Amino acid sequence: MAFLSDTLARVKPSPTIAVTTKAAELKAAGKDVIGLGAGEPDFDTPQNIKDAAKRAIDEGKTKYTAVDGIPELKKAICAKFERENGLKYAPNQITVGTGGKQILYNALMATCNPGDEVIIPAPYWVSYPDMVLLAGGTPVAVAAGIETQFKLTPEQLEAAITPKTKWFIFNSPSNPTGAGYTRAELRALCDVLLRHPQVWIMSDDMYEHLVFDGFEFTTPAQIEPALYDRTLTCNGVSKSYAMTGWRIGYAGGPAHLIKAMGTIQSQSTSNPSSVSQYAALEALNGPQDFLAPNRKLFERRRDLVVSMLNEAAGVTCPKPEGAFYVYPDISGCIGKTSAGGVKITDDEAFATALLEETGVAVVFGAAFGLSPNFRVSYATSEEVLTEACKRIQTFCAGLK
Ligand SMILES: Cc1ncc(COP(=O)(O)O)c(C=O)c1O
Repeated sequence: MAFLSDTLARVKPSPTIAVTTKAAELKAAGKDVIGLGAGEPDFDTPQNIKDAAKRAIDEGKTKYTAVDGIPELKKAICAKFERENGLKYAPNQITVGTGGKQILYNALMATCNPGDEVIIPAPYWVSYPDMVLLAGGTPVAVAAGIETQFKLTPEQLEAAITPKTKWFIFNSPSNPTGAGYTRAELRALCDVLLRHPQVWIMSDDMYEHLVFDGFEFTTPAQIEPALYDRTLTCNGVSKSYAMTGWRIGYAGGPAHLIKAMGTIQSQSTSNPSSVSQYAALEALNGPQDFLAPNRKLFERRRDLVVSMLNEAAGVTCPKPEGAFYVYPDISGCIGKTSAGGVKITDDEAFATALLEETGVAVVFGAAFGLSPNFRVSYATSEEVLTEACKRIQTFCAGLK
């Protein structure tokens, strides 16, 4: 009898780990390594949020809570959805989990049966396909490449839908590309979805507040009220409020789905940390004035990175609407040989040689399902980004 489960065999360890491990090894060996792999803001959680958590501890709010969130937080989430997205949810339509990741996982676990297909535009956040596989569903990746600025077209969505499609996972602005769908682009996708009533929409709005140049963030249930009854609007405090370690994510959706997700959570982790829930309550209800300066800071970094990467030979870097990632295309580098004598056969070879020869750690595109590219997280200082981009330029100039 096998010890490890068949479920485990369906998923692979995160391919990003190889790069991270290699970068850590080189750093430990004394090499000057610049990590551009982190998927989190580089600034600290705002003080008012930390203070709220300390108060919660001092007041003894340290016990089990309702499985899918304290009532005060659910009320604050309802207010957030109404205020920022024009979406009306009642508290029984809200669930709170341990990070945005658990929310998505609960939803897939609560709904996927063998044979159910889940459409995932590629490049995608690494966890989507594996979570679908863990839940017993079938991920259907649809490539949305640089020619459409990494955005799925309505024709592509229409072609990917079958009678077995259960979910369409929508992520705007996106990890790993930063691409954000305009209102008109999202409207066009909604029109397709209206024609297929069996398809549910999982909108992952994690990067909602990180949008630039006055870009207007929109989400499917807001754009098309007729989709409200089959949309799960997912969000969290991790990226907007620099709270990745606190582990609070949430969603609004139809009460029967929310209840089913709560059942999965009740038999796995139970409630998310009570202290973190009080911190999230302050994040949503407290002052929002740090969001705008942070946005500005990220916008400046994006402009810096995009312009410097476009100066690297063989690299094309579109300017994304949001998040803190860029996803340059490196078609012009494939087939060449690095100054260190490494043949650049694919984007994994590019990222490995870049790390070994220049100390810059990026994540290769194959990890996100679309090649040849690499992902840069620009959640670090302009000084560090400038140095990293200079090294990438030198590396690319050395490709022969
Ligand atoms: C697109 C996307 N969704 C969800 C998450 C998960 O966020 P959390 O840290 O709240 O679990 C991430 C984190 O990287 C992400 O990039």
